[in-house]
Amino acid sequence: MFVQQAIAILDSGVGGLTVAKEVMRQLPREKVIYFGDTARTPYGPRSSEEVRKFTEQIVDFLIQFKPKAIVIACNTATAAALDYISEKVSIPVIGVIHPGARAAISATKTGNVGVIGTIGTIGSGAYTTALKQLSPYVHVISEACPALVPLVEQGMFRSDETTRRVEQSLVGIRNSVIDCLILGCTHYPFLKETIQEVMGDGVKLISSADETAREISTILYDKGQLAHRDESPVHQFFCSGDAEMFQKIAKLWLGEHIVRTPVVWQVS
Ligand code: SIN
Repeated sequence: MFVQQAIAILDSGVGGLTVAKEVMRQLPREKVIYFGDTARTPYGPRSSEEVRKFTEQIVDFLIQFKPKAIVIACNTATAAALDYISEKVSIPVIGVIHPGARAAISATKTGNVGVIGTIGTIGSGAYTTALKQLSPYVHVISEACPALVPLVEQGMFRSDETTRRVEQSLVGIRNSVIDCLILGCTHYPFLKETIQEVMGDGVKLISSADETAREISTILYDKGQLAHRDESPVHQFFCSGDAEMFQKIAKLWLGEHIVRTPVVWQVS
């Protein structure tokens, strides 16, 4: 029997579910195998060497399922490991930074673009480089917001504490004149409502999920590898930490019927 290959998606935790959701929406025939490294989240404050090592371990795990593409749905891991992993495996590897930069360039009218992300992502300068490659005239204002990922991993999407921490994290970027803000961490779309309230309606929020899913779609189409099954795919979920918490958040985000009990794979 011809076995249809899956798209593998990895993240430091639950953040990459925002990308998985968009892949499932744009490519409903594709099976997704998702890995969230919930035991070692957040990646943001870690060194790029460590993040590269973790990403490589997860890719080594995922490759046994013979996926047709790998999505590094974590900005910190994309900044630290995309080139390295792309050279290591023989299937397409897609990160989230270039798609996010493209979406921002097409959205901005003034050329003043804000970026928020983890310490690792902002420190790497990867967004500024990607944005300036697309348009040398763009003016980029970036800010690391390390307090936000833990909120998402704890499932605190909407609360007074969430508003307080988002307000504190965005103090600097709120005072700058930008017309769009890249959510440069796949966890942040979980906090989109609060971030929008704090930034105001004049700032368009950009998440790389839509554009990343479009890129996967284009790559698979060009390679003649789009799935053509009639029945709905059964997705698989893995995490390295608390499976109950992962499942709760995944069900909230993707819908009850989509999420099967995650299998815990302990990485070390
Ligand atoms: C993190 O693990 O610190 C955040 C993931 C991301 O950068 O998208």
